[in-house]
Amino acid sequence: MAPWLQRQGFDVVGLDTGYFSACTLVPDLAEVPTIHQDLREVTAKELTGFDAVIHLAALSNDPIGNLNEAWTREINSQGTIRLAKLAKQAGVTRFIFSSSCIMYGTSEATVVDENAPLAPRTEYARSKVEAETALRALADDRFSPTFCRNGTVYGLSPRMRFDTVLNDFMGNAFTTGRIVIQSDGTPWRPVVHVQDVARAFQAVLEAPLETVHNQAFNVGADKLNHQIRELGQIAAQSVPGCELASVPQPGADQRTYKADFAKFKRTFPEFSFRWTATDGARELYTAFQRIGLKHDAFRDKRFTRLSWLRHLLDSGSIDDSLRWTEITANVSRNRA
Ligand SMILES: NC(=O)c1ccc[n+]([C@@H]2O[C@H](COP(=O)([O-])OP(=O)(O)OC[C@H]3O[C@@H](n4cnc5c(N)ncnc54)[C@H](O)[C@@H]3O)[C@@H](O)[C@H]2O)c1
Repeated sequence: MAPWLQRQGFDVVGLDTGYFSACTLVPDLAEVPTIHQDLREVTAKELTGFDAVIHLAALSNDPIGNLNEAWTREINSQGTIRLAKLAKQAGVTRFIFSSSCIMYGTSEATVVDENAPLAPRTEYARSKVEAETALRALADDRFSPTFCRNGTVYGLSPRMRFDTVLNDFMGNAFTTGRIVIQSDGTPWRPVVHVQDVARAFQAVLEAPLETVHNQAFNVGADKLNHQIRELGQIAAQSVPGCELASVPQPGADQRTYKADFAKFKRTFPEFSFRWTATDGARELYTAFQRIGLKHDAFRDKRFTRLSWLRHLLDSGSIDDSLRWTEITANVSRNRA
């Protein structure tokens, strides 16, 4: 998103504690000036002078929340609320929060629009609900939060995540010639390409304030609601000779939600989501061929958020509050 916005002429500064800075699959697209900091320690002074905050930083998935709920609460929920209060204090007008369709958490395949009751089932989903609720209360004529509820993101990125559904299927398809769906394949998931997410956030950033002020949007398009088995088929068809099997496991992930994207379409009639899951699968296939992706690399801890955080904890790089330890801080200071 940052390189994309830079290319569109925005003056972008990143802020990230850098948990995954070493987890690069393909080169960065551009250099982005970045404040290397934990969002829990940001000050209002550092936010002064910005027109907008696009708040993406988070522990971004359910398994991390399941490992330790307190981390997800502290970073995703309390950290977001603190950041938004400081942004408001610093005179930042727009605050675009990267939220998630996962907060609907429904188990029936109903179609959920932005007014559907929220039924978060995991700490990660709850953290998004709590943050949205608190941000809503901060909205006034000086501060406009917007809640972008993304579907599950796919596509190539420098710090690749293989822990999201289509990326995972493609990694398996390419490196083993086989995809195993661990459920019966019926759950619905809205998916969206990372470049379309960047473009959608840009649309929100450039929209007249009154159209996005304190509004939630499901970010995606109806054609991007897929059942897991369809995503498996799309991935399998993109890799010659790939087999697709379904081996439902007890306790398999049966979260299902089919999002309604009418509000986004109504609000941004000029905008189109350019990527389909099939395009995304092709993009990944070509990229994996180019870099010669092997199974070991695909399964490497660097590309699964939870495994990498566990590694940072086990190696003493971060402490049990997920802050960099003194040792790590000294090493990076010496390197700098
Ligand atoms: N990837 C998806 O499928 C998806 C779907 C819906 C919503 N989202 C949301 O979009 C956002 C971005 O997701 P992503 O897939 O790029 O995740 P990611 O894990 O790739 O990136 C999150 C970034 O946040 C940083 N971060 C985490 N805790 C921090 C802290 N305390 N201080 C500073 N930086 C911190 C990490 O270092 C990381 O670079 C998240 O808020 C996520 O919840 C993602």
